[in-house]
Amino acid sequence: MVVVDNTFATPIKQNPLSLGANLVLHSASKFLGGHADALGGVACGAKDVIEKLYHYREINGASLAPMDAYSLLRGMKTLCLRIERQNESALIIAQWLQQHPLIEQVNYPGLESHPHHQIAKSQMRGYGGVLSFSVKGGLDSIKTFLPKLKYAHMAANLGCVETVVGPPVVTSHVECTAEERAAAEIPEGLVRYSCGIEDVQDLIQDLKQALTEIG
Ligand SMILES: Cc1ncc(COP(=O)(O)O)c(C=O)c1O
Repeated sequence: MVVVDNTFATPIKQNPLSLGANLVLHSASKFLGGHADALGGVACGAKDVIEKLYHYREINGASLAPMDAYSLLRGMKTLCLRIERQNESALIIAQWLQQHPLIEQVNYPGLESHPHHQIAKSQMRGYGGVLSFSVKGGLDSIKTFLPKLKYAHMAANLGCVETVVGPPVVTSHVECTAEERAAAEIPEGLVRYSCGIEDVQDLIQDLKQALTEIG
């Protein structure tokens, strides 16, 4: 069984079931809801698989809270508009970061230099609103650089209307050892950047001024 977490791509940009996956999962708390104000999840697949999940969910009591259901439904009304904007901004920011002398590496499948660019191009209609980059000077540099950002919120979250940044070393991969992060090719100075819907030139200016702090 092939299970795809499509949270980053969203159904607007990629449809794994039509590409042969059996089950597609989304953290609806991210792009689907889009406002960082509700927790929920989505599982999509063939009826027999979903029936099993539905039953498991029933006996475990993981019901969506009414207010979260309302917030997610309301958030999804603007999903398409938000995703178009966030995808466009992410590509522009990735390209801008790539030419910055203080940036070591930019990871974004929309960049032609990304090892999986051709696969992404063939199966996606956009490359997502999330990118990551590593800064020269590693963790010491990002400790200086991140607090200087005026528009980006520092949090472990992603996929909302506000731009959110978080170093994996203290967010998504905080529970790994330094050796495990190295094995997973996650530099200690990596920054995850989830584009919001702010003006992209404002976001670039913000990155520019914050990077001068370590330059
Ligand atoms: C790609 C991806 N999938 C799933 C999840 C889990 O989301 P939730 O906390 O809504 O269960 C996350 C959380 O960061 C995520 O980034």
